[in-house]
Amino acid sequence: MSQAKAIRIFDTTLRDGEQSPGASMNIEEKLRIAKQLQKLNIDVIEAGFPIASEGDFEAVKKVAQNIKGPEIAGLCRANLKDIDRAWEALQHAGEKGRIHTFIATSDIHMKYKLQMEPAKVLEMAVKAVKRARSYTANVEFSCEDATRTRLPFLAEVVAAVIDAGASVVNIPDTVGYTIPFEYYNIIKYLKDNVANIDKAIISVHCHNDLGLAVANSIAAIQAGAGQVECTINGIGERAGNCSLEELVMILKTRSDILPYCSNVVTEQLTPASRLLSTVTGIMVQPNKAIVGANAFAHEAGIHQHGVMMEKSTYEIMTPESVGLKENVLVLGKHSGRHAFKMRLEELGHELDEDMLNKAFQRFKALADLKKEIFDEDLDAIVADEVMRIPDKYKLSHITVTCGSFAVATATVQMEIDGEAVRTAELGDGPVDATLKAIRKLTKNKAKLLQYMVEAITGGTDAQGEVTVRLSEGGRTVIGRGSSTDIIEASAKAYINALNRLSVKTHRLMESL
Ligand code: KIV
Ligand code: ZN
Repeated sequence: MSQAKAIRIFDTTLRDGEQSPGASMNIEEKLRIAKQLQKLNIDVIEAGFPIASEGDFEAVKKVAQNIKGPEIAGLCRANLKDIDRAWEALQHAGEKGRIHTFIATSDIHMKYKLQMEPAKVLEMAVKAVKRARSYTANVEFSCEDATRTRLPFLAEVVAAVIDAGASVVNIPDTVGYTIPFEYYNIIKYLKDNVANIDKAIISVHCHNDLGLAVANSIAAIQAGAGQVECTINGIGERAGNCSLEELVMILKTRSDILPYCSNVVTEQLTPASRLLSTVTGIMVQPNKAIVGANAFAHEAGIHQHGVMMEKSTYEIMTPESVGLKENVLVLGKHSGRHAFKMRLEELGHELDEDMLNKAFQRFKALADLKKEIFDEDLDAIVADEVMRIPDKYKLSHITVTCGSFAVATATVQMEIDGEAVRTAELGDGPVDATLKAIRKLTKNKAKLLQYMVEAITGGTDAQGEVTVRLSEGGRTVIGRGSSTDIIEASAKAYINALNRLSVKTHRLMESL
């Protein structure tokens, strides 16, 4: 049998993924995700869009300085200023730094968005690649909205940028419009009609607007693409991008008919998925392939029986192969620091001493309230104590009085930029009173789009996890908080969202 072709995996969780509504990551969070991508053995990590803001620049620089192994890419438009700024951040990765520059090539984008003639777009593309090549040989060029681009023009641009020195040409399905057979034909057309196509790797970048991002990426691989751009949990602009875990597991599971492979350490997929949810607050739907909570759950008796007799009756891949460990009851009141640390590491959380101490204290407090501590509890502890770092707003205390004959009253004490403030409010129930008090203290006018409370595990002593979605001035954020007391969890979630909103607003100001 002929050898499988290695497909390069380009992860854009930190760039396109961060464009998901509600997702925003600070520099520390991005670095944490990048370390997990390193463990996954990703070929290329797109760490951000350096010119977009000071925060984005710093994040790309930090990832370039700290991550060894994967190549580190930074996105830039096809203009000299963007490219120079991108390289300023990427140079810290040395030869592993990749400049990723793009311009739209479809008639609709050129006419309405760029307001440029095709000849001008072609000229800018070539100029951009040449400038990028003056810094590094590792240059990727993307024809934005490629799947709605006239094929002869697409071929002309691809040929020209390869001639100018691009080592990777990306053919994005920017609006998730194409279908697999059509995408296959586009890649095939380029293979057949671009004379120098073999001098570059063809990359594909699919959006999931019609739910076809993974299927399209597979079709493109079959037509000759050598790199796939994807994100953990499929997050990304609008309906998201090609899901990394799905793509990688398709290649692994169907190697019988797909002669391709990736370098990804698939046992790190579940930890990566959990970590990303913890960091962004974006939950994975339970029925999501590979990493959803039900992906390996067999509900029907007949299935359970089959799996007990022989796993392969209903399991096409093993839970272990994607890093899913049995959710055993791990820890309790008497568990020590060592066991706690070990379990966190198995779940993908590597904490420094200081963070570990904080998380361990919270674990001990929780173990006093709750007999059984599950993996989900540990994720929530890490999220609350380590990840949801209060940048601007911090909750100090809440006291609530409520009952069937009482008007709910909340007294909230917070720190805002280090200064202690306190107020009380009445409300239509204790959560309403608490959120009103926080709104008053923070003078915030964000609209509450969603409030959701869930029990993290079973039992009446379970921790409640609250998720809130806030929107202000077109920016949407998600905040989460957990506690055995749902009023406290609500306050934490709301404050977490306000902190994220303030980071987003700050970044927006910087980019203006
Ligand atoms: O979807 C898209 O076209 C992109 C490019 C910038 C690669 O994200
Ligand atoms: Zn995209």
